[in-house]
Amino acid sequence: MKEREKILVTGLVVLFVILWLGFTVHTSPQFAGSLMGGIFAVVGSLLMFVPLLYMIVKRIPYLKRSVTKRVSMRTLLTWHIYAGVIGPILVIIHTGHKFESALGIALTAMTILVVISGFVGRYLMTKFSSNIRDQKKMLTELELAYRQSATEIAAHPEELALLKPFSGFFSRIVASVFVSEQALSSSSPIRALQITESISDLEYAIKTNEYFKAWFGVWLKFHIIISFVLYGLLLLHIWAGIHFGLRWFE
Ligand code: HEM
Repeated sequence: MKEREKILVTGLVVLFVILWLGFTVHTSPQFAGSLMGGIFAVVGSLLMFVPLLYMIVKRIPYLKRSVTKRVSMRTLLTWHIYAGVIGPILVIIHTGHKFESALGIALTAMTILVVISGFVGRYLMTKFSSNIRDQKKMLTELELAYRQSATEIAAHPEELALLKPFSGFFSRIVASVFVSEQALSSSSPIRALQITESISDLEYAIKTNEYFKAWFGVWLKFHIIISFVLYGLLLLHIWAGIHFGLRWFE
């Protein structure tokens, strides 16, 4: 399910970027103000407010309790993600690639930034968590294998002499090139040495992944702040549209 979501959302984000880049070959100054352009604007903007609803539900305990009786937070996040990409696709169509006013350009730039940041957070940041899970599992298996080799070494202490060529930094590199793979893996002390090397590589990889995972908190703050800037600009744009665009109703 998650894999399907990832493929679909990636496709939608690519479509969004292609539609935005369309401004290099196309502009329609009239479309944004036409009836069709207006429909794209209203539906797109409404969808862009769905992520705000997600945040309200997530942050207000009373609301969260009553909403999650019917819909899980996971489902709400899925709605957030789809609405957060489909809304921007519709509003990009609404622009007709008429990027002339400072507000219009800023609004488009913030929309792109929010969508891309959401995408990065969802699929890159969460990748670090799953990497850590897999690596910890592998680490446990290696620790078990190491303990087994240690038991074998204890039963045959004379084999420890095999470790001599590996005692120095350079001799270890040379020995690992010239001693055959089979000879290496058939001896318990050398297998134990290889396992300790793999353990230290894995521990380093886990630390690196944990470091990046810690950035998730920073990412979320960034995503929230730019979302609020986006909502501010969007409200200003809607107000300007009603005030200047619809004044002939008066
Ligand atoms: C109009 C576009 C979007 C807006 C305005 C928006 C806004 C927000 C806001 C306000 C939050 C904070 C929720 C909270 O923790 O209180 C949030 C979280 C998040 N957003 Fe977005 N977002 C948008 C699009 C996207 C997209 C396209 C994706 C993914 C492809 C995405 C992924 C996420 C994720 C993973 C979180 C963290 C959820 C959690 O940990 O609870 N967002 N977004």
